[in-house]
Amino acid sequence: MVTPPFSPLDKAARIRAMKGAGQQIAALTAYDYPTARLLEESGVDLILVGDSLGMVVLGFPDTTSVTMEHMVHHTAAARRGARDAFLVADLPFGACETTELALAASHRLIEAGADAVKIEGARDAEIRGIVAAGIPLMAHLGMLPQRVREEGGYRIKGRTDGEADALLAQARAVEAAGAFAVVLELVEADTAARITRETAIPTIGIGSGTACDGQILVTHDLIGLLPWFRPRFARPEADVAQHIRAAVAAFRDRTAREAGPAQN
Ligand code: KIV
Repeated sequence: MVTPPFSPLDKAARIRAMKGAGQQIAALTAYDYPTARLLEESGVDLILVGDSLGMVVLGFPDTTSVTMEHMVHHTAAARRGARDAFLVADLPFGACETTELALAASHRLIEAGADAVKIEGARDAEIRGIVAAGIPLMAHLGMLPQRVREEGGYRIKGRTDGEADALLAQARAVEAAGAFAVVLELVEADTAARITRETAIPTIGIGSGTACDGQILVTHDLIGLLPWFRPRFARPEADVAQHIRAAVAAFRDRTAREAGPAQN
């Protein structure tokens, strides 16, 4: 857990140094005050205000409907809950069409309370511009949820030699551009292991095997808060949806049982 007073650059450097120290990085998402506060109290290394909020909080079919306004609103709420944690916010779909736009969007997320931003894809120019402005940047390669419509679904990347080589080249490029870490989403496990071995920045995997330098999950998937959809790799540790249903049923029964003449 990060305690004050650490600057955003210090926090990013700490995550990067965990790779050299052989320490696994545990990262989770939060989009609101109570979740961010609970994650900070529980000692997670990095909290991501992911654009997965589009699906797990706002009920959209994918992340492409998430706007800068959504991200600013939820980043500010998460920061109110986690005052000291390393808080990374996603640059949403359409926010990075040019380096200038990506930089302006990054500044807005930092003003809302983020320490760092995450960008999807090997966007070297945008990454260099953001890093040059002193903003720590986390890259995201492999399956890119913001491209799910073009791709027609979520599929494993890096299965062929050609794809694996291209992913490694992208990981080297984002490292050279200044990213402090890279999320590998749905990358074939051997390819993720190779990228982990052949880059100096930490790889943080999601659905990419166990050889990465850390793991990230959508918190709703970890705690069973979205029972209608569960990625195969998620391995929930709780069934919060069932607790909510049981509490609501108990409240409904208690309300019926205790109804009677007005009393103080
Ligand atoms: O938006 C998100 O939650 C993410 C994680 C799945 C890595 O990008």
